[in-house]
Amino acid sequence: MEQPSVDELKEWRNLMLLHRFALEEVNTKLKILNEEFQFLHDYNPMEHLKSRVKSLESIGAKLEKKGVDITTENARKYVHDIAGIRITCSFVSDIFKIKEMIEHQDDLKILRIKDYVTYPKGNGYRSLHMLCEVPIFLTNRSENIVVEIQIRTVAMDFWASLEHKIYYKYQQEAPEYLTNELREAADIVTQLDEKMKNLNDEINKYKGHLEE
Ligand code: GTP
Ligand code: MG
Repeated sequence: MEQPSVDELKEWRNLMLLHRFALEEVNTKLKILNEEFQFLHDYNPMEHLKSRVKSLESIGAKLEKKGVDITTENARKYVHDIAGIRITCSFVSDIFKIKEMIEHQDDLKILRIKDYVTYPKGNGYRSLHMLCEVPIFLTNRSENIVVEIQIRTVAMDFWASLEHKIYYKYQQEAPEYLTNELREAADIVTQLDEKMKNLNDEINKYKGHLEE
């Protein structure tokens, strides 16, 4: 295999750096939104924020899977989750609140939204995915960098983590009984989200009563 040149290595380092900057920008925005929401409504729609820059190995593997050359140009063109943020929240309604808040950020351009909450995947996967572009202002130029934001409840996250583990363990060919069990578990997760919502509505009604 051909060795990457020093210039190519520098390009990769630059790509990773830009995506780290993008994560920092978006993370700051999300923290501000969460804190102001807390200030206004005495409630945190985001329970937890996690971000990561995809490893070079994973970027390479994804490009290989797509059957294209492993170049920084292709990475930016085909790998949209080099910068990834996952937001977990308590309730399904929070997911859509957070989505709206993100949509209202003037300097974020929303490229794509996948709503697997309203339309779950066949395997039971639920989450809301947003692909956004954020401008990064550098010493001599600015660049628009793509960030993938995944928003889900803690219950959806619990399910997705386990499903991911199984998917990888069996290299995408889990036995049927396991995929069936996972689908069943996904239904229970949906019921749990629904139950928690109802309980929370009751609590809020009661609180409203006390404040009257
Ligand atoms: P990639 O799957 O990333 O190539 O992109 P895509 O265009 O199919 O995007 P999609 O929005 O469907 O998925 C993006 C990301 O969501 C994935 O990289 C995973 O992190 C997550 N995801 C999507 N589907 C599943 C799923 O069935 N199970 C789990 N655990 N995670 C999923
Ligand atoms: Mg992905």
